[in-house]
Amino acid sequence: MTAPSFLTIRYEPGVLTLLDQTKLPTDETYVRLADLESIAKAIETMVVRGAPAIGISAAYGLAVARRTGVPMADADLRLRRTRPTAVNLFWALDRMRPLWADGADAETLEAEAHRIYQEDKASSEAMARIGAELIPDGATVLTHCNAGALATAELGTALAVIRGAHGAGKTVRVLADETRPVLQGARLTAWELMKDGIDVTVIADGAVAHFLGQGAIDCAVTGADRIAANGDAANKIGTRGVACLLHHHDRPTYIAAPWSTVDMSLATGDAIEIEERPAHEVHTIRGQRIAPEGVKVRNPAFDVTPAGWINGLILDRGYVTGDLKAGLANLAG
Ligand code: MRU
Repeated sequence: MTAPSFLTIRYEPGVLTLLDQTKLPTDETYVRLADLESIAKAIETMVVRGAPAIGISAAYGLAVARRTGVPMADADLRLRRTRPTAVNLFWALDRMRPLWADGADAETLEAEAHRIYQEDKASSEAMARIGAELIPDGATVLTHCNAGALATAELGTALAVIRGAHGAGKTVRVLADETRPVLQGARLTAWELMKDGIDVTVIADGAVAHFLGQGAIDCAVTGADRIAANGDAANKIGTRGVACLLHHHDRPTYIAAPWSTVDMSLATGDAIEIEERPAHEVHTIRGQRIAPEGVKVRNPAFDVTPAGWINGLILDRGYVTGDLKAGLANLAG
């Protein structure tokens, strides 16, 4: 597989270093965070973003909290209030909770956070292996948002699938839609794939139907922030529209995710909480106002794609297609 040439998350005792994704693609800068509040703010303001990367950062955040004497229950609560949709955040915090509740020291918490990081890396590698088989040679693959090395421990989810096919010697072209409002496609996916030598073209969100009509898209691969037990999947706002368009044009949509993104406690996607983010992300781009002063704005950050429009779930535990609910139940064991 094609490995990334950069690291999104690094940790040394007491200091979490994050590639600042709010500055990409123009500046490749890192921030060093040595207190809980800075880490929580980095998650809220999307210095670090993407479901698995949020979970990993929160786990390290608890270790930093322990080192700096923050009461652990307060630290846990602060991190839980950062972003509601990606279940990986709560999954990681739930995994850390019994340790600190038992009085674990900072080194023990750091060791568990490192394990979460390494497991996420292994999950990405498993998705890349499925991608090496599933994506046809010569395919043009649409992706939405950024579900790459910037969103995970190292390889990505959707982009791990693409990295797997590319690394297997297949010719893969990626269409990255810009992904308004925060532009994770134009800014982040384009930066990441160009940096790693994978062919990428940015298109406007509104151009997807045009390219499908021209027969220029073979499939879509996206990540997910939470997958319900029936296969409904929450991901970046706009994913539902992409999947609907692909379904209409008889092209497959695949969703790639580690098992930590699957929430078997939710029967369907209707129960997934959708984060509503600040209005300025919609009415202003990089300091430039693009909508009239005083206009009403809505900014849901995620939407839910119904299982019926998802042709396959590419999971670290295996590939699920057909009856997604039955496949997930089977993998849940
Ligand atoms: O708001 P973001 O940038 O955190 O949203 C990220 C996404 O929706 C990703 O597609 C998702 O987390 C899958 S990532 C591996």
